[in-house]
Amino acid sequence: MTKITAAITAVGAYVPEFVLSNQVLETMVDTNDEWITSRTGIKERRLLKEKGKGTSYLAIKAAEDLIAKANINPEEIDLIIMATATPDMPVASTGVYVASQIGAVNAFAFDLQAACSSFLYGMSTAAAYIQSGRYKKVLLIGADKMSSIIDYTDRATCIIFGDGGGAVLFEPNYEGLGLQDEFLRSDGIGREYLKIDAGGSILPPSAETVANGQHFVFQDGKTVFKYAVSGMADVSEKIMERNNLTKENVDWLLAHQANKRIIDATASRMGLDEEKVLVNIHRYGNTTSATLPLLMSDFEKQFKKGDNLIFAAFGGGFTWGSIYLKWAY
Ligand code: UT7
Repeated sequence: MTKITAAITAVGAYVPEFVLSNQVLETMVDTNDEWITSRTGIKERRLLKEKGKGTSYLAIKAAEDLIAKANINPEEIDLIIMATATPDMPVASTGVYVASQIGAVNAFAFDLQAACSSFLYGMSTAAAYIQSGRYKKVLLIGADKMSSIIDYTDRATCIIFGDGGGAVLFEPNYEGLGLQDEFLRSDGIGREYLKIDAGGSILPPSAETVANGQHFVFQDGKTVFKYAVSGMADVSEKIMERNNLTKENVDWLLAHQANKRIIDATASRMGLDEEKVLVNIHRYGNTTSATLPLLMSDFEKQFKKGDNLIFAAFGGGFTWGSIYLKWAY
Protein backbone atom coordinates (compact mmCIF):
# COMPACT_ATOMS: atom_id res chain seq x y z
CA MET A 1 0.00 0.00 0.00
CA THR A 2 1.27 3.49 -0.84
CA LYS A 3 2.26 5.53 2.20
CA ILE A 4 -0.12 8.38 3.09
CA THR A 5 1.49 11.72 3.82
CA ALA A 6 -0.40 14.81 4.99
CA ALA A 7 -0.22 17.75 2.58
CA ILE A 8 -1.45 21.30 2.80
CA THR A 9 -3.73 21.78 -0.20
CA ALA A 10 -5.30 25.21 0.44
CA VAL A 11 -4.70 28.36 2.48
CA GLY A 12 -6.94 31.22 3.65
CA ALA A 13 -6.50 34.26 5.90
CA TYR A 14 -8.14 37.28 7.44
CA VAL A 15 -6.96 40.36 9.31
CA PRO A 16 -9.26 43.09 10.65
CA GLU A 17 -9.27 46.47 8.92
CA PHE A 18 -8.32 48.65 11.89
CA VAL A 19 -4.59 49.49 11.88
CA LEU A 20 -2.75 50.44 15.08
CA SER A 21 0.53 52.05 13.99
CA ASN A 22 3.66 52.73 16.04
CA GLN A 23 2.89 56.42 15.66
CA VAL A 24 -0.48 56.02 17.38
CA LEU A 25 1.09 53.84 20.11
CA GLU A 26 3.48 56.73 20.81
CA THR A 27 0.44 58.74 21.92
CA MET A 28 -0.82 55.92 24.18
CA VAL A 29 2.28 54.75 26.11
CA ASP A 30 5.87 55.89 26.65
CA THR A 31 7.41 54.40 23.51
CA ASN A 32 8.56 55.44 20.05
CA ASP A 33 8.64 54.12 16.51
CA GLU A 34 12.44 53.86 16.47
CA TRP A 35 12.52 51.68 19.62
CA ILE A 36 9.71 49.38 18.45
CA THR A 37 11.14 49.01 14.95
CA SER A 38 14.72 48.33 16.01
CA ARG A 39 13.81 46.00 18.93
CA THR A 40 10.99 44.04 17.26
CA GLY A 41 10.66 44.85 13.53
CA ILE A 42 6.98 45.78 14.01
CA LYS A 43 5.50 48.87 12.30
CA GLU A 44 1.78 48.24 12.71
CA ARG A 45 -0.75 45.64 13.83
CA ARG A 46 -4.45 44.97 13.13
CA LEU A 47 -7.12 45.03 15.84
CA LEU A 48 -10.66 43.67 15.83
CA LYS A 49 -12.48 46.65 17.29
CA GLU A 50 -16.16 45.77 16.83
CA LYS A 51 -17.89 44.99 20.11
CA GLY A 52 -19.27 41.46 20.47
CA LYS A 53 -16.86 39.92 17.93
CA GLY A 54 -14.34 37.41 19.22
CA THR A 55 -11.72 35.03 17.88
CA SER A 56 -14.41 32.98 16.12
CA TYR A 57 -15.07 35.96 13.83
CA LEU A 58 -11.42 35.96 12.67
CA ALA A 59 -11.47 32.16 12.30
CA ILE A 60 -14.71 32.09 10.30
CA LYS A 61 -13.44 34.80 7.93
CA ALA A 62 -10.15 32.93 7.38
CA ALA A 63 -11.97 29.61 6.81
CA GLU A 64 -14.43 31.24 4.41
CA ASP A 65 -11.52 32.74 2.46
CA LEU A 66 -10.00 29.24 2.10
CA ILE A 67 -13.32 27.64 1.16
CA ALA A 68 -13.99 30.26 -1.53
CA LYS A 69 -10.46 30.22 -2.98
CA ALA A 70 -10.16 26.43 -3.10
CA ASN A 71 -13.81 25.83 -3.96
CA ILE A 72 -14.26 23.34 -1.10
CA ASN A 73 -17.64 21.97 -0.05
CA PRO A 74 -17.64 22.55 3.75
CA GLU A 75 -19.82 19.45 4.18
CA GLU A 76 -16.79 17.35 3.15
CA ILE A 77 -14.63 18.59 6.05
CA ASP A 78 -14.12 15.78 8.60
CA LEU A 79 -12.41 17.66 11.40
CA ILE A 80 -11.70 21.26 12.43
CA ILE A 81 -8.81 21.98 14.77
CA MET A 82 -9.03 25.48 16.20
CA ALA A 83 -5.61 26.63 17.38
CA THR A 84 -6.06 29.60 19.70
CA ALA A 85 -4.94 31.10 22.99
CA THR A 86 -7.93 33.45 23.09
CA PRO A 87 -11.08 31.32 22.75
CA ASP A 88 -14.42 33.12 22.54
CA MET A 89 -15.22 31.83 26.04
CA PRO A 90 -13.33 29.70 28.62
CA VAL A 91 -15.93 26.94 28.18
CA ALA A 92 -17.75 26.03 24.93
CA SER A 93 -15.20 25.22 22.27
CA THR A 94 -14.66 28.02 19.75
CA GLY A 95 -13.88 25.48 17.01
CA VAL A 96 -17.29 23.84 17.39
CA TYR A 97 -19.05 27.18 16.85
CA VAL A 98 -16.81 27.96 13.86
CA ALA A 99 -17.61 24.57 12.30
CA SER A 100 -21.34 25.21 12.50
CA GLN A 101 -21.04 28.75 11.17
CA ILE A 102 -19.09 27.74 8.06
CA GLY A 103 -21.44 24.85 7.27
CA ALA A 104 -19.04 22.05 8.22
CA VAL A 105 -22.01 20.05 9.45
CA ASN A 106 -20.28 16.67 9.13
CA ALA A 107 -17.15 17.67 11.02
CA PHE A 108 -16.23 17.33 14.67
CA ALA A 109 -14.13 20.12 16.14
CA PHE A 110 -12.01 21.04 19.12
CA ASP A 111 -9.65 23.76 20.36
CA LEU A 112 -5.91 23.34 20.80
CA GLN A 113 -3.98 25.69 23.10
CA ALA A 114 -0.20 25.87 23.17
CA ALA A 115 0.25 29.66 23.23
CA CYS A 116 2.32 30.87 20.26
CA SER A 117 3.03 27.26 19.23
CA SER A 118 -0.67 26.38 18.93
CA PHE A 119 -0.66 26.36 15.13
CA LEU A 120 2.61 24.41 14.90
CA TYR A 121 1.31 21.73 17.28
CA GLY A 122 -1.95 21.84 15.30
CA MET A 123 -0.03 21.01 12.12
CA SER A 124 1.36 17.93 13.84
CA THR A 125 -2.11 16.90 15.10
CA ALA A 126 -3.85 17.52 11.77
CA ALA A 127 -1.16 15.58 9.91
CA ALA A 128 -1.40 12.62 12.32
CA TYR A 129 -5.15 12.32 11.72
CA ILE A 130 -4.57 12.33 7.95
CA GLN A 131 -1.63 9.88 8.07
CA SER A 132 -3.71 7.47 10.15
CA GLY A 133 -6.07 7.16 7.18
CA ARG A 134 -9.08 7.96 9.36
CA TYR A 135 -9.92 11.37 7.87
CA LYS A 136 -9.55 12.96 4.43
CA LYS A 137 -10.08 16.67 5.04
CA VAL A 138 -8.79 18.34 8.20
CA LEU A 139 -9.14 22.10 8.47
CA LEU A 140 -6.59 23.69 10.79
CA ILE A 141 -7.39 27.26 11.82
CA GLY A 142 -5.10 29.54 13.81
CA ALA A 143 -6.72 32.71 15.11
CA ASP A 144 -6.26 35.03 18.05
CA LYS A 145 -7.86 38.23 19.23
CA MET A 146 -4.84 39.26 21.28
CA SER A 147 -6.32 42.72 21.83
CA SER A 148 -8.84 41.08 24.20
CA ILE A 149 -6.08 40.14 26.69
CA ILE A 150 -3.63 43.02 26.27
CA ASP A 151 -3.30 45.99 28.61
CA TYR A 152 -2.93 49.04 26.37
CA THR A 153 -1.18 50.92 29.19
CA ASP A 154 1.61 48.29 29.39
CA ARG A 155 4.33 49.16 26.88
CA ALA A 156 6.05 45.81 27.46
CA THR A 157 3.22 43.95 25.71
CA CYS A 158 0.91 46.34 23.84
CA ILE A 159 3.50 47.16 21.19
CA ILE A 160 3.93 43.51 20.26
CA PHE A 161 0.59 41.82 19.70
CA GLY A 162 -2.09 42.02 17.00
CA ASP A 163 -5.25 40.20 15.91
CA GLY A 164 -5.62 37.89 12.91
CA GLY A 165 -6.58 34.48 11.58
CA GLY A 166 -5.43 31.94 9.04
CA ALA A 167 -6.49 28.49 7.89
CA VAL A 168 -5.00 25.55 6.00
CA LEU A 169 -6.54 22.36 4.68
CA PHE A 170 -4.68 19.07 5.21
CA GLU A 171 -5.43 16.20 2.80
CA PRO A 172 -3.82 12.80 2.07
CA ASN A 173 -1.01 12.81 -0.49
CA TYR A 174 0.36 9.75 -2.26
CA GLU A 175 3.45 11.40 -3.87
CA GLY A 176 5.37 11.83 -0.62
CA LEU A 177 4.58 15.55 -0.34
CA GLY A 178 3.42 17.33 2.82
CA LEU A 179 4.67 16.88 6.37
CA GLN A 180 8.01 15.04 6.45
CA ASP A 181 9.26 15.40 10.02
CA GLU A 182 8.66 17.29 13.25
CA PHE A 183 10.59 18.06 16.42
CA LEU A 184 8.27 19.44 19.11
CA ARG A 185 9.32 20.41 22.63
CA SER A 186 7.84 21.87 25.84
CA ASP A 187 9.14 22.90 29.27
CA GLY A 188 7.01 24.03 32.22
CA ILE A 189 9.81 26.28 33.42
CA GLY A 190 8.29 28.90 31.11
CA ARG A 191 5.02 29.25 33.01
CA GLU A 192 6.28 32.15 35.14
CA TYR A 193 7.55 34.28 32.27
CA LEU A 194 4.58 34.55 29.92
CA LYS A 195 1.12 34.12 31.40
CA ILE A 196 -2.26 35.45 32.44
CA ASP A 197 -2.49 35.04 36.20
CA ALA A 198 -6.24 35.27 36.73
CA GLY A 199 -9.32 33.81 35.09
CA GLY A 200 -8.28 30.18 35.37
CA SER A 201 -8.79 27.55 38.06
CA ILE A 202 -5.95 28.72 40.31
CA LEU A 203 -7.12 32.31 40.53
CA PRO A 204 -10.72 32.64 39.35
CA PRO A 205 -11.72 36.13 38.23
CA SER A 206 -12.88 38.55 40.92
CA ALA A 207 -13.25 42.29 41.38
CA GLU A 208 -9.78 42.20 42.95
CA THR A 209 -8.05 40.37 40.07
CA VAL A 210 -9.62 42.78 37.60
CA ALA A 211 -8.57 45.81 39.68
CA ASN A 212 -5.02 44.38 39.71
CA GLY A 213 -5.04 43.87 35.93
CA GLN A 214 -4.36 40.15 36.40
CA HIS A 215 -6.61 39.27 33.46
CA PHE A 216 -4.03 40.76 31.09
CA VAL A 217 -0.95 39.11 29.56
CA PHE A 218 2.21 39.43 31.63
CA GLN A 219 5.52 38.87 29.88
CA ASP A 220 9.09 38.96 31.17
CA GLY A 221 10.28 39.81 27.67
CA LYS A 222 14.02 39.52 28.30
CA THR A 223 13.77 35.96 29.68
CA VAL A 224 11.34 34.79 26.99
CA PHE A 225 13.61 36.33 24.36
CA LYS A 226 16.63 34.40 25.67
CA TYR A 227 14.82 31.04 25.61
CA ALA A 228 13.15 31.79 22.25
CA VAL A 229 16.40 32.67 20.48
CA SER A 230 18.15 29.45 21.50
CA GLY A 231 15.03 27.23 21.41
CA MET A 232 13.88 28.10 17.90
CA ALA A 233 17.39 27.95 16.46
CA ASP A 234 18.13 24.59 18.16
CA VAL A 235 15.03 22.81 16.82
CA SER A 236 15.45 24.25 13.32
CA GLU A 237 19.07 23.15 13.15
CA LYS A 238 18.07 19.71 14.48
CA ILE A 239 15.36 19.17 11.86
CA MET A 240 17.79 20.15 9.10
CA GLU A 241 20.46 17.77 10.38
CA ARG A 242 18.27 14.73 10.71
CA ASN A 243 16.70 15.21 7.26
CA ASN A 244 20.03 15.94 5.55
CA LEU A 245 18.83 19.42 4.63
CA THR A 246 21.38 22.09 3.78
CA LYS A 247 21.04 25.85 3.45
CA GLU A 248 20.86 25.27 -0.31
CA ASN A 249 17.92 22.84 -0.34
CA VAL A 250 15.79 24.59 2.30
CA ASP A 251 13.59 26.86 0.19
CA TRP A 252 11.69 28.81 2.84
CA LEU A 253 11.76 29.45 6.58
CA LEU A 254 8.37 30.24 8.11
CA ALA A 255 9.14 31.26 11.68
CA HIS A 256 6.66 32.45 14.29
CA GLN A 257 6.58 36.25 14.03
CA ALA A 258 7.28 37.36 17.62
CA ASN A 259 10.40 39.44 17.09
CA LYS A 260 12.47 40.06 13.96
CA ARG A 261 15.64 39.53 15.99
CA ILE A 262 14.52 36.01 17.01
CA ILE A 263 13.69 35.18 13.36
CA ASP A 264 17.10 36.48 12.24
CA ALA A 265 18.92 34.43 14.89
CA THR A 266 17.14 31.26 13.72
CA ALA A 267 17.87 31.99 10.05
CA SER A 268 21.49 32.71 10.86
CA ARG A 269 21.94 29.37 12.70
CA MET A 270 20.40 27.63 9.67
CA GLY A 271 22.78 29.55 7.39
CA LEU A 272 19.87 30.77 5.23
CA ASP A 273 20.06 33.68 2.80
CA GLU A 274 17.70 36.55 3.64
CA GLU A 275 15.40 35.97 0.65
CA LYS A 276 14.40 32.55 2.01
CA VAL A 277 13.27 33.98 5.35
CA LEU A 278 9.60 34.98 5.21
CA VAL A 279 8.68 38.04 7.26
CA ASN A 280 5.42 39.95 7.71
CA ILE A 281 5.82 40.99 11.36
CA HIS A 282 6.10 44.66 10.28
CA ARG A 283 2.45 44.52 9.12
CA TYR A 284 0.73 42.42 11.78
CA GLY A 285 2.95 42.18 14.89
CA ASN A 286 2.66 38.94 16.86
CA THR A 287 -0.73 37.37 16.12
CA THR A 288 0.07 34.24 18.23
CA SER A 289 -1.73 31.29 16.53
CA ALA A 290 -2.14 33.16 13.25
CA THR A 291 1.47 34.02 12.35
CA LEU A 292 2.28 30.81 10.43
CA PRO A 293 -0.91 30.65 8.31
CA LEU A 294 -0.69 34.41 7.64
CA LEU A 295 2.84 33.83 6.30
CA MET A 296 1.58 30.99 4.09
CA SER A 297 -1.22 33.17 2.80
CA ASP A 298 1.01 36.18 2.08
CA PHE A 299 3.72 34.15 0.32
CA GLU A 300 1.64 31.30 -1.18
CA LYS A 301 2.20 32.49 -4.75
CA GLN A 302 5.98 32.12 -4.38
CA PHE A 303 5.85 28.47 -3.27
CA LYS A 304 6.36 25.73 -5.86
CA LYS A 305 5.36 22.07 -5.71
CA GLY A 306 8.13 20.13 -3.95
CA ASP A 307 9.64 23.18 -2.15
CA ASN A 308 11.16 22.42 1.24
CA LEU A 309 9.55 24.56 3.95
CA ILE A 310 10.78 24.71 7.55
CA PHE A 311 8.28 25.96 10.13
CA ALA A 312 9.46 27.03 13.58
CA ALA A 313 7.72 28.50 16.60
CA PHE A 314 8.31 29.40 20.23
CA GLY A 315 5.65 30.34 22.77
CA GLY A 316 4.47 30.56 26.34
CA GLY A 317 4.57 27.46 28.49
CA PHE A 318 7.24 27.12 27.15
CA THR A 319 6.25 25.38 23.91
CA TRP A 320 8.36 25.24 20.77
CA GLY A 321 9.39 23.15 17.82
CA SER A 322 9.99 22.86 14.11
CA ILE A 323 8.31 21.07 11.23
CA TYR A 324 9.68 20.10 7.82
CA LEU A 325 7.02 20.09 5.07
CA LYS A 326 7.17 19.68 1.29
CA TRP A 327 4.78 22.05 -0.47
CA ALA A 328 2.22 20.13 -2.53
CA TYR A 329 0.97 22.56 -5.20
O1 UT7 B 1 5.47 34.91 20.93
C1 UT7 B 1 5.67 34.40 22.20
C2 UT7 B 1 7.06 34.53 22.62
N1 UT7 B 1 7.39 35.91 22.88
C3 UT7 B 1 8.53 36.39 22.43
O2 UT7 B 1 9.24 35.72 21.75
C4 UT7 B 1 8.91 37.78 22.88
C5 UT7 B 1 10.34 37.78 23.36
N2 UT7 B 1 10.79 39.06 23.87
C6 UT7 B 1 11.00 40.15 23.09
O3 UT7 B 1 10.68 40.14 21.92
C7 UT7 B 1 11.70 41.33 23.67
O4 UT7 B 1 12.23 40.99 24.94
C8 UT7 B 1 10.82 42.60 23.82
C9 UT7 B 1 10.51 43.18 22.46
C10 UT7 B 1 9.55 42.26 24.57
C11 UT7 B 1 11.61 43.67 24.60
O5 UT7 B 1 12.84 43.92 23.96
P1 UT7 B 1 14.20 43.90 24.78
O6 UT7 B 1 15.27 44.24 23.83
O7 UT7 B 1 14.30 42.59 25.50
O8 UT7 B 1 13.99 45.11 25.76
P2 UT7 B 1 14.12 45.14 27.36
O9 UT7 B 1 12.89 44.59 27.97
O10 UT7 B 1 15.46 44.58 27.76
O11 UT7 B 1 14.17 46.69 27.59
C12 UT7 B 1 15.27 47.51 27.13
C13 UT7 B 1 15.01 48.93 27.51
C14 UT7 B 1 14.61 49.13 28.96
O12 UT7 B 1 15.13 50.37 29.39
P3 UT7 B 1 16.50 50.45 30.24
O13 UT7 B 1 16.21 49.62 31.46
O14 UT7 B 1 17.54 49.86 29.36
O15 UT7 B 1 16.64 51.91 30.48
C15 UT7 B 1 13.10 49.21 28.92
O16 UT7 B 1 12.57 49.93 30.00
O17 UT7 B 1 13.90 49.44 26.74
C16 UT7 B 1 12.86 49.91 27.62
N3 UT7 B 1 11.58 49.58 27.01
C17 UT7 B 1 10.95 50.35 26.11
N4 UT7 B 1 11.27 51.53 25.58
C18 UT7 B 1 10.42 52.05 24.68
C19 UT7 B 1 10.84 48.45 27.20
N5 UT7 B 1 9.72 48.48 26.44
C20 UT7 B 1 9.78 49.65 25.75
C21 UT7 B 1 8.93 50.24 24.82
N6 UT7 B 1 9.28 51.44 24.29
N7 UT7 B 1 7.79 49.67 24.40
